[in-house]
Amino acid sequence: MRIGVLTEIRPGERRVALPPEAVASLCGDGSTVTVQTGAGRHLHASDEDYRAAGAEIADSAEQVAENSDVLAVVNPPELPVIQALPSGANLVGMLNPFQEARAVRSARDQGISAYALELLPRISRAQSMDALSSQALVAGYRAALVGADLLPRFFPLFMTAAGTIPPARVLVLGAGVAGLQAIATARRLGAVVSGYDVRAAAADEVRSLGATFVSLDLETQEGAGGYAKSQSADFAERQHAALAPYVAESDVVITTAAIPGRQAPLLLTESMVAAMRPGSVVVDLAAQSGGNCELSKPGETNVHGGVTVWGGADVPSQLPVHASKLYGANQTAFIRLLRDGEADDEILVGCRVTAGGEIVHDGVRRALAEEPDQREQGE
Ligand code: NAI
Repeated sequence: MRIGVLTEIRPGERRVALPPEAVASLCGDGSTVTVQTGAGRHLHASDEDYRAAGAEIADSAEQVAENSDVLAVVNPPELPVIQALPSGANLVGMLNPFQEARAVRSARDQGISAYALELLPRISRAQSMDALSSQALVAGYRAALVGADLLPRFFPLFMTAAGTIPPARVLVLGAGVAGLQAIATARRLGAVVSGYDVRAAAADEVRSLGATFVSLDLETQEGAGGYAKSQSADFAERQHAALAPYVAESDVVITTAAIPGRQAPLLLTESMVAAMRPGSVVVDLAAQSGGNCELSKPGETNVHGGVTVWGGADVPSQLPVHASKLYGANQTAFIRLLRDGEADDEILVGCRVTAGGEIVHDGVRRALAEEPDQREQGE
């Protein structure tokens, strides 16, 4: 199998789909790997490191694509790169198919099988390929560090000759993969941590990390597949009122709430932030998907009434070495399944977006059918 790796060029992107150790592992299986020059630059992995792992280096993305049966990417490639893939080749990555209509249509027209790892079924057998989880873990860890960095106070309790300093109080809203990792990291730094989620199952997970679960007098919001369901305006209003006192007494609030395929729910209104003490910090990991905090802007740190509001953008890329290591392991497991599995394996079917000149994923086809076809717009 011929595998290709690109230099990711989107602004803010610092990861690579397969770092040298993943390339070595795939070459050890008998695959050949072509890597675009500079692909590992943010990881301090040189072309020489990739050569030592067994890869060949190519000068351009198109050259990589032309020689690939599987193109492993982080983000959807530029259209000329998709068009350089041989018909019948595979494209594997975080393809964001509901937003990246042009890439999906281009893959369809090129006769490529495109696999969006965001759509991977979350079954046990797929855990090693679960890029959403691996990248959420990185983001959650980073969120706790950002909170500690921006807070003009210590996180841990200190008892010193110069007096006793109480620990910081950290509240984490949304206790999925990222939220649980933020809780664990803030706990390791010595903060007193509490967590909240709309799913009932989250309570035990929060407590198992030594944090307090914030129980609100609200109905739980369980949806399909272990996810939260979309919440009504009335629920959101009651949730804001119930959360407000917990937010006001926190030094750091980290928000990680998400609902798949939807805009992130609003958890922190402007007035809730205004009630926080000056010097407090909000870390919003959902800033790029609509924002859990009304005041956050992706990639910006702003101060409102003395409260610092940090809006996350490309957060896993802020730790590119380990984000790529974990992502590369997800890609490697997926590529092996692609090579050895049956075409109708539920994992492959679950995240296959295009194949044989068609958009084969029902949800993506429906979503894209609502948009004008850009080919007909002359784009
Ligand atoms: P996510 O990124 O979609 O959402 C993050 C969290 O936000 C979720 O816990 C969700 O319940 C919460 N949330 C949504 N609306 C909220 C609101 N208004 N207020 C407070 N919290 C809100 O979730 P993630 O991290 O992808 O995990 C979702 C579920 O999938 C979890 O149950 C997790 O344990 C499970 N999971 C299962 C895996 C497997 O079996 N292979 C792998 C990874 C996750």
